[in-house]
Amino acid sequence: MSRLAIDAINDADVEGVVALWQRCGLTRPWNDPHADIALARRRDNSTVLLGRDDGAIVASVMVGHDGHRGWVYYVAVDPDCQKRGYGRVIMTAAEDWLRRAGIAKLQLLVRRENAQANAFYGSLGFELSTSVMFQKWLDGRATTPSN
Ligand SMILES: CC(C)(COP(=O)(O)OP(=O)(O)OC[C@H]1O[C@@H](n2cnc3c(N)ncnc32)[C@H](O)[C@@H]1OP(=O)(O)O)[C@@H](O)C(=O)NCCC(=O)NCCS
Repeated sequence: MSRLAIDAINDADVEGVVALWQRCGLTRPWNDPHADIALARRRDNSTVLLGRDDGAIVASVMVGHDGHRGWVYYVAVDPDCQKRGYGRVIMTAAEDWLRRAGIAKLQLLVRRENAQANAFYGSLGFELSTSVMFQKWLDGRATTPSN
């Protein structure tokens, strides 16, 4: 039985969440994590869900929908707490959040070289899409290796 307690991010959690993402290697120079959190919390079509073990933030998922499909970002489990089922629990929480919003399909992006995450999503029943992703920065900057 998982000890993970799930709830939505609060103001007091922000620095702890950014630290978790840094420990998990999820931050990138072209993504400001504070701005990403603020944007996800601005409207009711997205949020950041947290998993707490004895009060400590050990898991996260940014979940939202665009009015058609659901998406997750920043899926993270503290390196000291991985392989205990917490990743599965936080993803189930994201799926439940999307179902409640009336969304039927969840999509996500994984860096090709992230073998750990590719195996994780495979275990959770996700299938590789045959679609190709196109991308463009809307502020005119040059394309980065990934988003
Ligand atoms: C990916 C990540 C969230 C998985 O979290 P976790 O708590 O270790 O995963 P769980 O213990 O819930 O594992 C769930 C399933 O995934 C599988 N899995 C997890 N990590 C795996 C790995 N490295 N290799 C193979 N399978 C793995 C587990 O075996 C389990 O499968 P099972 O239930 O069929 O046995 C975690 O490793 C992490 O935070 N990684 C760094 C950040 C990252 O890459 N996030 C994804 C960005 S797209």
